[in-house]
Amino acid sequence: MASLEQKIRLLTGATSFTTHSDDELGVASIALSDGPIGIRGIAEPAPVAVQLPNPSAVAAAWDPGLAARLGTLLGTEARRLGIDVVLAPVVNLQRTPVGGRHFESFSEDPVLTTETMVAFVRAVQAEGVAVCVKHFVGNESETERTEYIAQIPEQALREAYLAPFEAAVKRAQVWSIMAAYNRVDAGGELAHATEHGFLLNGVLKGEWGFDGVVVSDWLATQTTAPAALGGLDLVMPGPGGPWEQHLVDAVRDGFVPEVVIDDKVERLRRLADRVAGEPVEPVELIDPADVSEDAVEQPVVTRAQAAAEPNPDGVRALLREAVARASVVLRNDGDLLPLDTAGITRIALIGPNAVDPFVQGGGSAFVTAEYLVSPEQGLREAFPDAELTMHRGASARRFARLIDPARVTTSAGEAGYELALTDADGAAVGDPVVVPAEEGWNRGIADGATEAFVTARIRLDGPGEHRVEVGLSGRHRAWFDGELVSESDAFADQNVILDSSANHPEGPSRTFLVDASSLAEGTERVVEIRVECQVVDAAAYGRFVRFELRHEVAEPGDDPDTQLDEAVAAAREADVAIVVIGTNEEVESEGWDRRSLALPGRQDELVTRVADANPNTVVVVNAGAPVILPWLDDVAAVLWWWLPGQEAGHGLADALTGVTEPSGRLPWTLPATEADVPVPNAIPVDGVVAYTEGVHIGYRGWQRLGRTPARAFGFGLGYGAWRLGEPIAAEEWTADDTLPVSIALVNESERDARGVVQFYLSGPLDPDGAWDRPARWLVAYASAEVRAGRIAAVSVRIPRRAFEVWDVSTGGWTLPGGEYTIRAALDARDAGQTVTVTL
Ligand code: BGC
Repeated sequence: MASLEQKIRLLTGATSFTTHSDDELGVASIALSDGPIGIRGIAEPAPVAVQLPNPSAVAAAWDPGLAARLGTLLGTEARRLGIDVVLAPVVNLQRTPVGGRHFESFSEDPVLTTETMVAFVRAVQAEGVAVCVKHFVGNESETERTEYIAQIPEQALREAYLAPFEAAVKRAQVWSIMAAYNRVDAGGELAHATEHGFLLNGVLKGEWGFDGVVVSDWLATQTTAPAALGGLDLVMPGPGGPWEQHLVDAVRDGFVPEVVIDDKVERLRRLADRVAGEPVEPVELIDPADVSEDAVEQPVVTRAQAAAEPNPDGVRALLREAVARASVVLRNDGDLLPLDTAGITRIALIGPNAVDPFVQGGGSAFVTAEYLVSPEQGLREAFPDAELTMHRGASARRFARLIDPARVTTSAGEAGYELALTDADGAAVGDPVVVPAEEGWNRGIADGATEAFVTARIRLDGPGEHRVEVGLSGRHRAWFDGELVSESDAFADQNVILDSSANHPEGPSRTFLVDASSLAEGTERVVEIRVECQVVDAAAYGRFVRFELRHEVAEPGDDPDTQLDEAVAAAREADVAIVVIGTNEEVESEGWDRRSLALPGRQDELVTRVADANPNTVVVVNAGAPVILPWLDDVAAVLWWWLPGQEAGHGLADALTGVTEPSGRLPWTLPATEADVPVPNAIPVDGVVAYTEGVHIGYRGWQRLGRTPARAFGFGLGYGAWRLGEPIAAEEWTADDTLPVSIALVNESERDARGVVQFYLSGPLDPDGAWDRPARWLVAYASAEVRAGRIAAVSVRIPRRAFEVWDVSTGGWTLPGGEYTIRAALDARDAGQTVTVTL
């Protein structure tokens, strides 16, 4: 018989991203890797993997069929890379636009989130790969994310924040769920999400019947018995943490019954069995062009049908299609879009994100792609005969970029920097090593070493203003040319990983002016860098020295004003100016929330001046989460391009030229000004993030406050023109408790296009105020390709649950009787067409 130790050993990770196996217990080891935009892998360096557009982009297609095809791709990628569990998708809702992981969530709306998630999860799991839907629950923001208390009123918790998780269990039969970092005040219990008995044992496993594994977020488990008793099954990462021998002791001392342990082992065995199977050859998807609309409702290729011969064109075509279809046309004055490929001979491609596109958000979801198709490449292919010039126009970054390694040597003249380690007493640990200059993460540092000593020589050849920066994590002193330029006593531990600051380390920055006359021929200016810093011990994230060398040079005549002037001049000469602006990895990342919704740097000025110079200006917004676009209605065309992943440039060119219609609709509300935002931040007050808006999340909050956004939830022009007929609602519920509603969708344009019909409900309020209701809420949607001038019949089934409220007084769902208005609309503010039903 298996011992207690043997069983409990299985319940903490073996490594950062794998679990233990036990032959006697019949439990295989499993490998877990981050998603959601690709498979990050479990080792350093990360494997090359397919890189999808960000999840909000997937939701913006309003098409579960597309989400399913992307899910199939992710599942086959996981199998190819030997991954059993993909730590995705994120189904936390976009409660505030400043939320750091906004880009990683699907939507501000529970129904759009749920429908996208269900399709995606089913498709991944059909490949024999588990998903781990996260983060259960209340992780809508990042500030103090490991400690804050999410105080979510019960009705909002049930109707909005738990709803996607409930569907993940009941409709998608999800195999694992990740418990969040934060604490939750719910069900009369205030506890960390990893030990919340009411939520984990009560709601998730009890009410909903979840039979999978509850995995802790990384380093989120704080306790032994409370977490074990609360319903957590697996502590990640490992080894170490609060279980292992501590949990053995807790069982022996009678604090945790052994049956509780047995149940966890059983769940782990079930998960390992579910994902058992050999890695497969890369499976390629059928070229989307060959797939009819009916067929895309289901994963196109399943593991059983896996083709032996890879077909990378199928993957590329799918990613390219996804980028184009997810893009949202926010404005199209005078039908500037789609661009006329024949009539355009000169293109000015402008903007910081044209030069450096931001294709994936920061944090644990980071994926190493094989290639990136830049906007320039995409546009050159689409306009082979046009003259295309490129201009940064403005800078959007705070930090300089990674240094060109050719500039860096040791004092002995070897390429790279020198790193030496000592213990706390100053005794050397190992020999000094020379590290390639582009390597900013020195991982796997020996246990005894606590101090690091780094030296490097930076060559500043060529005249100009050279900015030299060093990025560091933790306690340090740094000298440039013998002068102390930075000093800190702030000791770093695993929190620099959890708050993502180690990804963008701060540090000293100095500018050195090198002028041509001071450089005799063949000579160069050299800056000597010396740093003493700590070794960071980040628990199960490992031991490392963070030392990043960054450099940028502004050559004479290359100052910001000149860059702007040049871009404007180029725009004036061109047939069309395409301005790609947006955020970047310094702005949108896991680990912190944004402080401002403004575009960084002088990008607003750039857009305004370019649009003044050329009426044919198309602005492409390269961002995941909302940014304020003060000029939105003053430029001819605006396209929201998301964080598009590796097929960025192809998808962009297809969308701009209309090869593929950018038929995306906003999955969130775009504010006109920051002052209007109903939930402008999520900064905990005395440790509490109070969800005081209740059920009025997203567009519902805007409606309640009577505020007008720049563009409503659900908005997107595409290239069609739509008219809705009269909706017809069935008189009876179906056997599976849904109410069918159908409507005619008329494409009044001269192009074939994809229309999205959204169904919003309004219903009676409780006279006693026992429960609250939004002014209107999304209950169903459907999208359809409709030929030019033709009509499509669109039908949806509205589930009974969409009419119900969570009644706090009874602790259950109830269907308030009375008159309901079903509004078929093109966005959340659209008056649309209505039909009423009386229940
Ligand atoms: C994130 C999770 C992620 C995990 C593993 C955590 O910091 O919150 O979303 O899956 O790290 O990388």
